[in-house]
Amino acid sequence: MPTPEPATSPLLVNVTPPYPVHVGQGDSFLANAIAGLALPPLSQVVVVADTQVAEHGHADRVAAAWRARGLPCNTLLVPAGEDSKSVPMWAGLHERLLRLGADRSTLVCAVGGGVVGDLAGFVAATFMRGVPFVTVPTTLLAMVDAAVGGKTGIDLEAGKNLVGAFWQPLAVVADAGMLATLPQPHFREGTVELYKHALLANLPWRSEMHTRDGAVAWPAAWVGERQLTVLRDAIHVKASIVARDPLEAGERAHLNLGHTLAHALETITQHRMRHGTAVAYGLVYAAMVGAGNRPGTHAWLPDVVALARWAADAPLPHASFEALWTAMQRDKKRRGGRLSFVLLNEPGAPDTDTGIPERVFRGAWDALLAEFGGDA
Ligand code: GLY
Repeated sequence: MPTPEPATSPLLVNVTPPYPVHVGQGDSFLANAIAGLALPPLSQVVVVADTQVAEHGHADRVAAAWRARGLPCNTLLVPAGEDSKSVPMWAGLHERLLRLGADRSTLVCAVGGGVVGDLAGFVAATFMRGVPFVTVPTTLLAMVDAAVGGKTGIDLEAGKNLVGAFWQPLAVVADAGMLATLPQPHFREGTVELYKHALLANLPWRSEMHTRDGAVAWPAAWVGERQLTVLRDAIHVKASIVARDPLEAGERAHLNLGHTLAHALETITQHRMRHGTAVAYGLVYAAMVGAGNRPGTHAWLPDVVALARWAADAPLPHASFEALWTAMQRDKKRRGGRLSFVLLNEPGAPDTDTGIPERVFRGAWDALLAEFGGDA
């Protein structure tokens, strides 16, 4: 994997057209980054944010940066939480855009975490057949994963993200200063995705997250420039994969490491389990499935056990394998009738396998319950 750009340059997501990901912090970072974006002629900007993000002042700061660039800017707020990724909320945002006089030269700017990014991005993809889109992620998870790569969408009763589009932003501006307002469980959730990217690309700093006794913690030295370097490295992993496979025809599925179990746990818990918690258990499960499928590998298993002990903020549900298997079949239906499972035989070497026997999945679930007890 090529080395990331120098710390001061934006990362580039090399799709068509390519777009920058600015990562920084400090008083003037946000305004400078927005002022310097190369954009088509625009009539106005509409910031879409949720009420929690607005309470922290992030939506106002972003709107002020757009106005400082000389553009009229309005803000549309939606309630915080996954329920906002709904058909009525999506349709209503089109009506609200029309009331603001929005046209095809209006830029939609998402300010928030994954929910707002998915919702506002899908509005940008569909309003008047598509308008320019910029995203300002406010959570660690959105910075390292959701905001980069153009996946947008909303939920249906039948499941999450069942309606959506690939709609790449024109730019991503990640202000690490916004992480200061992020509650600990949300921070740990984002750390799980960051750790996943470190596993996928075998990034050397992953070992710094393990204390001498093997436990996981956010290293005390990861502040300031060092924190920005880690963020850029993790984003670079995502950006490189997206550039090679923007529409998830193949390699992009590697980003779903740990997500087959995670999606099933989210279904079983009716989405009460935080995504990062589900992915943390999912990474352990992926290592256990891998070990069952090809004994003798997966030295990274104890590492992800430690990650899950640190990051999980809810117990593993003591579900039967049958319930789990039914939920995992939904991923199979979405991917052409075969359960395509992402394995990592060693850090830096992800692969997908569609032929893993059911008994391996069952054995790994038993092993996961034995490790984490389950909430029996
Ligand atoms: N979050 C995984 C992807 O964007 O493909």
